[in-house]
Formats: sequence, structure tokens, C-alpha cells
Amino acid sequence: MSEAVLGAVADAIDEARLWRLHEEFAAIGGTSKGGVCREALTPEDMTARIKLADLGRELGCTVGVDAIGNMFLRREGRKPDAAPVATGSHLDTQPTGGRFDGAYGVLAGVELFYALRDAGIETERPIEVINFTNEEGGRYAPGVMGSQVFADPDQLKRMLAAKAPDGGVLGGELGVFRQKLGPVEDRPFGTAYRAFVEGHIEQAPLLEETGNTVGVVTGIQGSRKFQIEVIGEEAHAGTMPRRRRKDALIAATHMVQALYRLMEDEEDTIRFTIGRFQAFPGAPSVVPGRVAFTCDFRHPSNELRARLGDQIEGLCKALAGPCGVEVNEYQSSVSVDFHGPMLEAVRRSAARLGVPHMDMYSGAGHDARNMARLCPSAMVFVPCERGISHNEAENAKASDLAAGTRVIAQAVTELALD
Ligand code: HGY
Ligand code: MN
Ligand code: MN
Repeated sequence: MSEAVLGAVADAIDEARLWRLHEEFAAIGGTSKGGVCREALTPEDMTARIKLADLGRELGCTVGVDAIGNMFLRREGRKPDAAPVATGSHLDTQPTGGRFDGAYGVLAGVELFYALRDAGIETERPIEVINFTNEEGGRYAPGVMGSQVFADPDQLKRMLAAKAPDGGVLGGELGVFRQKLGPVEDRPFGTAYRAFVEGHIEQAPLLEETGNTVGVVTGIQGSRKFQIEVIGEEAHAGTMPRRRRKDALIAATHMVQALYRLMEDEEDTIRFTIGRFQAFPGAPSVVPGRVAFTCDFRHPSNELRARLGDQIEGLCKALAGPCGVEVNEYQSSVSVDFHGPMLEAVRRSAARLGVPHMDMYSGAGHDARNMARLCPSAMVFVPCERGISHNEAENAKASDLAAGTRVIAQAVTELALD
């Protein structure tokens, strides 16, 4: 019986409808270069969230929102008390983001609901599509925030107090969102899920280079993220002698060079990025009195991340010269391996559908890392053009998105049938 149901749900996945969904959401925060700027809890993110809730209601779902703003579209099954199966990802983007990073995982879930409706399928377990708050961490730090609080509610207070460089306060903006959204179910933390499957673009070129359509993600590398402040002294550019300056920019550039040397490895497996570097006050005739920069350090080896990451503070202090330096590690996550039987479920779906697939490891972080702390989890990657992501040129093929969605649909439906 289940083979027929799985065939029916896959057949009902509609490539054109899925592509239209992406176009509709890409228009919310769409940029002139064809990308998307929809940072967490901006008006654009709220518009996309409200649209998602409307789609959920249209599909007969109940819409729930938890205290950190994670959204849950719930499709009932025959056994309302059974642990649901979930899928989903995030609708927020980087400031120069693309149309698919995050959105794909959420919209694949919406397309699954359309397909289950069209195929007239009722599952035993409920199925939920989740939109996690602030996965990207560009406007509010840290990233993967919503799923992190979902997995560890003790972090809620700290995260609600998070401040954006533009003055936003996360908790306050969540209140604005809830007012705009109108009445929905207040979702407590702690729902016990049967399983979670996240669809995502690969954000690297391996699938495209090997001619595979689906990546069965075996795990996600760990990361450590730092905010570094170099404190000098503002002075007049025309009068203050070099010997008496406390030039925060010079000290910071010495640190940057030394950090990149520390993180340079022959095998090119270390991922070390200084993505944000700001000199204050940023006036041409003022010696910079303060520099703030970020370090994003990732590697699969917990030992290597500990060994090299623990050197960052000492190295910066040694190169501070006449300046002071504060090193704040604001996020640290260990490498995660996904659940064997879940990987089997994804491989089984891909094989049943005849979709070329391969096992692969994720360099990028995802909400599935936090869901894996709570329930058996897996990820399904689809190719993106030239592996480009976190870039307005991010692109993907409608046929690949649909093929990946069929694999997700069968894996999720199979889990919800028992
Ligand atoms: O940074 C990451 O890995 C994720 O794409 N936000
Ligand atoms: Mn993402
Ligand atoms: Mn991203």
C-alpha cells in the first residue's frame, strides 16, 4: 500500500507550481541584481512570513508560532497525538542573498502539502513545515538562532535581547510580527518530532560537477564565531605623530594577517572568513579609534577547531600594540553526523525515484544541525549553479528543485505513514 502512496505523492509534485512559489517569494525583498535581501525580522521577512501563514491556512493547516518566532504549518494525520514528521528551513536571507538559500526547504514543504492534497493522501502522523527564525545571522547574531532556541529554550532570553546594527531589538520586532500576523496558535517549545528532513541547495559545486541531482547529507561541520573589538584612540590625522598614535586600524590589520596565516592549511579544508570589518569613526581625517571585525571559523575536526580557535585571543592580544582588544566568541557548534536510518530513508527515496544521488558532507550550517539534537534528522541537497550562494547570482534549475522535492516528499510521507 505504501509504495502506491509514495508513488502518488511524488507524481503530484508539480515543478511549475514549485517554481512559481519561488518566484513569488523571491519578489519579497527582491533586488535589482536578481537576488533577495530579506534579513531576519525586517519588513520583507515579515511579509514573507505572513504569506507563508496564508498559504498554510489555504492548505488547511493550523499555523503556530513559538516564542522565538519559529513558524509551524501543521497538517493533521489520522493520529493527532502521534509525534509529527517535520520538514522546512528558513525564509530569511543574507543581505546580498539568493532566491533559493533557505526558501527552497520551506517551499518544498509547501509543495509537499499541495501534492498530498492533490493526491488525496491522509497520513497516520501529522506533518509540519517549519520556518526557523534568523538562520542567516547577518542582521542579528548568532545565526541558526530559531532552531538553536527550539533545541535549547534556556537561550530564549539572551536571543530576544539581540540587537541589530540598525538599532532593531529582536524581541521587539517579534512583537511587531505577531501583531501583523494576527491570531495563531502559540506554540510551546519541546514538541517531540518523529523525524526532521531539511531540503537545501548545496551551496558548493560537487553535485553539478558529478552530475548528481540529490545530495544525501551525512553531516555538518562544526563552527566557531568571534566578534573582535580593537580599542585605540581617535586623533587628528594631520597633527598626531605616528609614535604617539593608538591606531586601531593598524593593529587590526596585523591581527587579520596573522589570523589568516594561522588558518592556512595545505589541504585547504579550513574555512576561515573575516566577513565584516569596520573602522570607526570612519572619517578620512580621524585616526581610527575602534575597529570591529568578525571571524567565522569552520572545520569538521572538533580537535582542530579547539586547537586553532583557542589561539585567536592570544594572537590578537599579542598584536594589539598600544591598543586594547576584546575577543568575544559568540557561537560555537560541534560537527554533527546525521542519523543512519534517516540517511537510508533518503537514499531509498532517491533510488526508488531513479534520481542520481551521492552522499556528501555540508560545509554550510543549517537548522538541521539543531534538530538533530532532538530527533532523527537528515538533509537533502539539490545543485545550485556553479555552487554559488550567499550571492545575488544564486541560481538553481526548476527540474532539480522538483526532483529534490520528490525525494523529500517520499521520505517524509513514508515516515508519516507508520
Ligand atoms: O553560514 C551558513 O553556513 C549558513 O548558510 N547561514
Ligand atoms: Mn541556508
Ligand atoms: Mn545561508
